[in-house]
Parts: sequence; structure tokens; C-alpha cells
Amino acid sequence: MSDAALSSQYVTGTSRADIERALIAAGKDVHALQVADLAMLEDYHTGGRIATVQLADLVDITPASSVLDAGTGIGGTARYLADQFGCAVAAVDLSDEYCETARWLNRLVGLDDRITVTQGDVTALPFDDASFDVVFSQHVQMNVAGKDELYQEARRVLKIDGRLALWDITAGNGRELDYPLPWADLPDHTHLSTPAALRAGIEAAGFTIGHWTDPTEEVATMMRAIQALPPSPLGLHAFVPDFQKRLQNLTAALSDGRLQAIRAIAQTR
Ligand SMILES: C[S@@+](CC[C@H](N)C(=O)[O-])C[C@H]1O[C@@H](n2cnc3c(N)ncnc32)[C@H](O)[C@@H]1O
Repeated sequence: MSDAALSSQYVTGTSRADIERALIAAGKDVHALQVADLAMLEDYHTGGRIATVQLADLVDITPASSVLDAGTGIGGTARYLADQFGCAVAAVDLSDEYCETARWLNRLVGLDDRITVTQGDVTALPFDDASFDVVFSQHVQMNVAGKDELYQEARRVLKIDGRLALWDITAGNGRELDYPLPWADLPDHTHLSTPAALRAGIEAAGFTIGHWTDPTEEVATMMRAIQALPPSPLGLHAFVPDFQKRLQNLTAALSDGRLQAIRAIAQTR
């Protein structure tokens, strides 16, 4: 995604203020915030925190692990991993605004000593070779045209026996999508591969796929249930404009096969 496209997609100028307002509306004390207080609004991907937990459960992370969250958004995955496993996490995102918001939230919950946030591009990572045991990336590649570079960079920064953990959306039956989607206001903002092309690109970058599932049906059911929940101040709608419409379009496309979901773990070889 170009910087200009990203500006319209992930930059509002108000994400921090919007999140602060939502936390207060939900009765949270922002000066005594707990990690769990953020769980409903910080995972910017299909299935939210449930999906993050399901992916993390497939990777053996210990307090000694060094983890990269590639395309961290406002940093929900990084905070979950640092808090749950006690590991150090480096978080990277193209959006300056999201990086600032992530740093602010890390400070509020006391995780800023374990998480470093760097503005950067996942196709040209600002890290040395063999820096990490695990690269996590959830719902980022849909914005990335240069998928070869994305996975080559993930491979480069991983150590021997490193693991790449992915939770992503791919193209489905080829029928036309409705916009906006959670990651794309317009067709120009989305770069969807078929599952087979995505898998081949990951393998070509030097990985062996250890786990590859298509939980589309399960996720579509979950998203329909989420849509039926009573409104709450806490959710992605707190800082993502027009979120209900995005959610509706995503849920419909997962339900009728226009989009698919994949969960994957790949090992370096
Ligand atoms: C749908 S959000 C997902 C955020 C986060 N992974 C999560 O699951 O909560 C997509 C994120 O990818 C980031 N992004 C898109 N293209 C990127 C790139 N080339 N390099 C780094 N970040 C990128 C966006 O800025 C945005 O924060």
C-alpha cells in the first residue's frame, strides 16, 4: 500500500483521543488501566482477541523469545504476547499515528519496557538479519502488493528454526467485493492473493509450512454472532470510521465465499 493510500485508510488524526473517549465511556480509569481493559478494541482483525489467542497457541513462545509483530496497528497483538508470555516484542507499522497510539497504550498498561514500537515498512524491515525467534503478522498482507518482499524480509529477520505466524484474508471465489472493508476503503487499497498463491510465495521465501487451515466457515459464523451483540463503547468502531459497514461487508463476503481466511505457521528452512 502506498503512503498516500495508507493515509486515507489508517490515518484519522484522532485515534488516541477516540480510544480515550471510548475507555472513559466504558467506565475505565485510563490512569489505572489494565491490559485486559483493551482486549475488546485493540485487535484490528477478523475474530479479534479470539483469533490472536488461537494463533499464539500454535507457536511455542517463552519469556526468552524475541518476537516481531509485523504491521502492529495500535499494538494489540504485541501487548497480548508481551503480557501473556513475558517476552520482548518489537512492533512495526507504516502508520505514524498508529505507532504513537500503540506507544501511548503500552505506557498506560506498563508494557513499554517490553515492547518497542518502530515506524517502518514490512517489505523493508529496519532490523538486522536473524533478530527474531517469531514473526507474527495478522491482517497486514492484504494491504501489501510486494508480498515476495514481505515474506523475504520475514525470513531474513528470523533466526534458524524461526517461525512465521499468520492470520489473514485471501481472495475467494473471485466474485466482486463490496467496500469499504476493514482494511480497504477502495479496491485500490487491497491486494488479495488466492490461498495457493499466498502459500507458494511463503514457501518460495524459504519457509516450510507446518500448519495451514481454512477456518472461513467458523469465522463467518463468529462474525455474524459478533454483529448481533448489543452495542458497547469498546470495539474497533471506537477509532475506525464507518466500522459497522466494513464489518457487514466482510461478514457477507466470508459467508458467501468471496473471501477466505487462513491461519498458518511456517518454519524457516
Ligand atoms: C488491518 S490492520 C491490522 C493491525 C494489526 N496487525 C492487528 O491485527 O491488530 C493493518 C495494519 O497494517 C499496516 N500496514 C499496511 N501496510 C504496511 C506495510 N507495508 N508496512 C507496515 N505496516 C503496514 C497498517 O498501517 C495497519 O496498521
